[in-house]
Amino acid sequence: MSWSRAVTTPDEARAAIADPGDALDLRAAAALDRAWADLGFEPAAPGELARPVDVGLADLAATRRLGERLAGELRPGDLVVLSGPLGAGKTSLTQGLAAGLGTSGTVTSPTFVLARAHRGPLPLLHVDAYRLRGAGARALDLADLDLEDALEDGVVVVEWGEGLVEQLSPSVLTVELSRPDDGDRPGRTARVRARGPRWSHRTEVTAP
Ligand SMILES: Nc1ncnc2c1ncn2[C@@H]1O[C@H](COP(=O)(O)OP(=O)(O)O)[C@@H](O)[C@H]1O
Ligand SMILES: [Mg+2]
Repeated sequence: MSWSRAVTTPDEARAAIADPGDALDLRAAAALDRAWADLGFEPAAPGELARPVDVGLADLAATRRLGERLAGELRPGDLVVLSGPLGAGKTSLTQGLAAGLGTSGTVTSPTFVLARAHRGPLPLLHVDAYRLRGAGARALDLADLDLEDALEDGVVVVEWGEGLVEQLSPSVLTVELSRPDDGDRPGRTARVRARGPRWSHRTEVTAP
């Protein structure tokens, strides 16, 4: 199972987009010009572009499987931000992450407690920042959670964390979950992005 696939030319990128295999994103060592931008590549780390691959999640089990798969890529100090509307599957994905990390305790939505720590070979701090987004929220609440400390030897996963916690680390794994517009259709989609230097060395990008 690979995290990402390195591409060196836009033609190679087109072929990989048509048949992404099990790679979660496509990486290129290149300057961002029109050809790459048109193909959906974005700056991901210094000197590196990446194109996230959307993952279809047909059912709850698929959401959990994606979480388990991502868990296999995580190292101490990794920050994961989950976004998407209420019911999009953020907590379900975290359940898969926790299973993949081998942590103890049941993962439930920490909306009212804000954060819950799960012990394991790679400790997981699961945060739900929903209550910290509103007008009445205090910036202090986030500081109270001591996320830096949790990041020292474990993984921090933050639901509703976009725009709130990115300053904690220059490297962030983001998963944007969405529900189909047509409410009658089942399933979800996930867009995974791995940005920042911590992720560069885990990919196989080679200079063209
Ligand atoms: N891929 C999926 N297809 C259909 N239902 C899903 C999928 N993933 C999760 N769910 C369901 O969506 C509901 C809300 O999930 P949850 O993880 O609590 O969302 P969030 O934390 O984003 O609010 C749960 O009932 C869960 O079973
Ligand atoms: Mg939730």
